[in-house]
Amino acid sequence: MSVLSGKKIVLGVTGGIAAYKTASLVRLLSKAGAEVQVIMTPASHQFITPFTLSTLSKKPVYTEFFNSKESGTWNNHVDLALWADLMLVAPATANTLAKMAHGLCGNLLLAVYMSAKCPVYIAPAMDLDMYIHPSTAQNLATLTSYNHVIIPAEEGELASGLIGKGRMSEPETIVAVLEASLSKDLPLQNKKILITAGPTYEPIDPVRFIGNHSSGKMGYDIAKEAVKRGATVLLVSGPTNQKIEDSRVHVIPVISAQDMYEVCHQYFDEVDVVVAAAAVADYRPKDVATQKIKKKADEFSITMDKNPDILASLGAIKKQQYLIGFALETENEVEHAKEKIVKKNLDLIVLNSLNDTGAGFGKPTNKVTFIDRAFHIEPMELKSKEAVAQDIVNKIMQHYE
Ligand code: C5P
Repeated sequence: MSVLSGKKIVLGVTGGIAAYKTASLVRLLSKAGAEVQVIMTPASHQFITPFTLSTLSKKPVYTEFFNSKESGTWNNHVDLALWADLMLVAPATANTLAKMAHGLCGNLLLAVYMSAKCPVYIAPAMDLDMYIHPSTAQNLATLTSYNHVIIPAEEGELASGLIGKGRMSEPETIVAVLEASLSKDLPLQNKKILITAGPTYEPIDPVRFIGNHSSGKMGYDIAKEAVKRGATVLLVSGPTNQKIEDSRVHVIPVISAQDMYEVCHQYFDEVDVVVAAAAVADYRPKDVATQKIKKKADEFSITMDKNPDILASLGAIKKQQYLIGFALETENEVEHAKEKIVKKNLDLIVLNSLNDTGAGFGKPTNKVTFIDRAFHIEPMELKSKEAVAQDIVNKIMQHYE
């Protein structure tokens, strides 16, 4: 998921050759989950058709204030401006830049701009000499002084054949600038969080393993919530059907507890927070058969070795890291959870009690109790796992406040 997901964007398209690139721009913004309302200047229709952009944005494109006389309707610039979470003018021609800088609002796009209260991003595009003309430089400086973000034009071959600065930034760059800028003020922006999730599979032979019913949902929900708040996430995941597609989440798939242990130790030094949501097998078969074990005797037993306790091993070497563990208990829940805090050197434990209806494996809901290092106990309501994930990320944020 991108920070642009769910964002309402007014994309203003003006009349320069770079307008043809707005087809890709609309696709990328939509793919990132944004809702895009395109508003074009009349001149831009010469470079790309409103039909192309309305098809890609899945919304009618607006150019004029007034629709046909018969319809008796008009496009309210104030409503459009207030709808937007952000406005992007790309490409912005020298003409539109000048009008934006000086308050001229003779078309729908300019009137929406003048009414907008949201952040405004401008990607200029024009020929070399127009770009370096002092009036353009002055207009860009004026627009910067209005707190708008200018996404500078790039160097390269221009449509005129001249070589120099003036090419509109590539759509990928524009989207990256928007994403970086929206993430900037997020509370966990500079935090790296390692999350373990899912079950582990402990091999018996090449085709069999000992596993458990963990779905991985809790860990994946925490990862999704953490990136929404600006964190970078390393998700060390046992085998699960859960999916996450976000450039800020680096998923490292593992199979066994030993694999998970090694990956966690490899990255531990570079992370600020660890959330151990994985259901790690406590034991593994002592000897893994190299060939499929044949069915012979009536009884069959497997000798098991103890797996390393990943979280406890991280607790033993932790420096500044904030460690969160889970505890699933069936009796004397709070006492056992407190013991775990001490034994594993944790900062916070998220206790699930199987005695609570709606809590536990494979369920969409969870009822947890937070217990911190000072043994402060905070029971929470029964909630969706997404809401529990929000509470856990809130705890991380409180730690850094
Ligand atoms: O000791 P117990 O298994 O109840 O502790 C649960 C917590 O410890 C969970 O956060 C789990 O992810 C973590 N754990 C681990 N390595 C193990 C066993 C549990 O990291 N081998």
